[in-house]
Formats: sequence, structure tokens, C-alpha cells
Amino acid sequence: MTKRVAILISGGGSNMVRLVEDMKQPGHPATPVLVLSNDPAAGGLAKAASLGVPTAIVDHRAYGRDRAGFEAGLIRHLDAAAPDFLCLAGFMRILTGAFVERYQDRMLNIHPSLLPKYKGLDTHARALASGETEHGCTVHLVTPALDDGPILGQARVPVRPGDTPDTLAARVLEMEHQLYPAVLRRFAVQDRRPVRLG
Ligand code: GRF
Repeated sequence: MTKRVAILISGGGSNMVRLVEDMKQPGHPATPVLVLSNDPAAGGLAKAASLGVPTAIVDHRAYGRDRAGFEAGLIRHLDAAAPDFLCLAGFMRILTGAFVERYQDRMLNIHPSLLPKYKGLDTHARALASGETEHGCTVHLVTPALDDGPILGQARVPVRPGDTPDTLAARVLEMEHQLYPAVLRRFAVQDRRPVRLG
């Protein structure tokens, strides 16, 4: 049975594009049913529409500090799309434990570091500041603790002399675009063997 995937974005959606393009390949075990953004200006919305994927917006700014109200808006769109899995892809809002528990064990996220190192933001600058010789990205199951769930895949890249946060981020992003589709292919057929790239 083809699994239904909703993808949550906040910005350019480059990871979303790679996931959708991969799911269009014949025989893929999953299909995209919704791209959902918290930001009406997210560039990924137009990309999703051009790829034929339904889109929706729940503007978090309309809810102020009412996080539960914002998430109820997300859930309305998600319930209508009836996804089997959620993929957070450049989604920049912190989700409450109640939301995470609603999608426990069926919500994935990609984080630009080799977790458990460098949870949170500014991962590339922090890795450089710590003198790391390698860095990378991780796809993990989302749990209530930030950037902390079971690891489903990792991709490693070398840190090169003269790297800046931007040059390192670009090298990591290229691997994100390979890692996330590879992990989703396994996850969609209940294959929990971690994907290791680089
Ligand atoms: C990427 O660095 C990703 O690791 C992080 O958000 C950034 C932008 O992702 N989660 P995208 O281009 O919007 O997919």
C-alpha cells in the first residue's frame, strides 16, 4: 500500500523538492499528499505547486503565543490529507509534546549536524568554532525533546581548511538531498536499518 506523506516547510524547501521528486520515481513506496508551511512567503510553496503537490499555509504569526491554536490549524490540514508519515524539511517551528505524540513514530526531521552533536541552531558555525574535522546531517524520528529522537540515517562531509558556515552548509545540504530520500524509502517499507552516507 503506497504510504501518504505530508511535508512541513518554512522556507525554500530544497529538501521537500528532493523528497517529492524521488517519490515520483516508479515503484516508490510513498507519495506526497500535502506540503504545509507556517510561512506564507515560503519559496517552497510555489515549488510544491509546480510539482503538482497540494499546499496549505498556517501562518504562525496569526496565533501569537497560542502554540496550541497554531498546531490545531496544522492538524486540520493534516487530518484532511490523512498522511501516514510527516516529514519536517526545513520546518523552523518548535512543536509541542502533544503534537509530537499525535504523530509519534511517524514524524521525521532532518537536522544539519551529526546528532547528538550540535542540537539546535547555527550548527555549521558551532562545528567550525569547535574545530571539527567532519560534520554532516541526520534524519531522525521526532520525539518531544528537540533534535533527540532515534536516528534513521546520517551523512558525513569533511570540514575543509578555509570553510565558512556558508561553504560548510552548502556541502551538508548536498548530502541532505541524498540522505532524506534514502531514509524515506526505507522508512516507508518499515526498514529501520540506519542509512549511512559519506
Ligand atoms: C537545511 O539546512 C536543513 O538542514 C534545515 O533547514 C535548511 C533549509 O532546508 N532543516 P530547505 O532548503 O528549506 O529544505
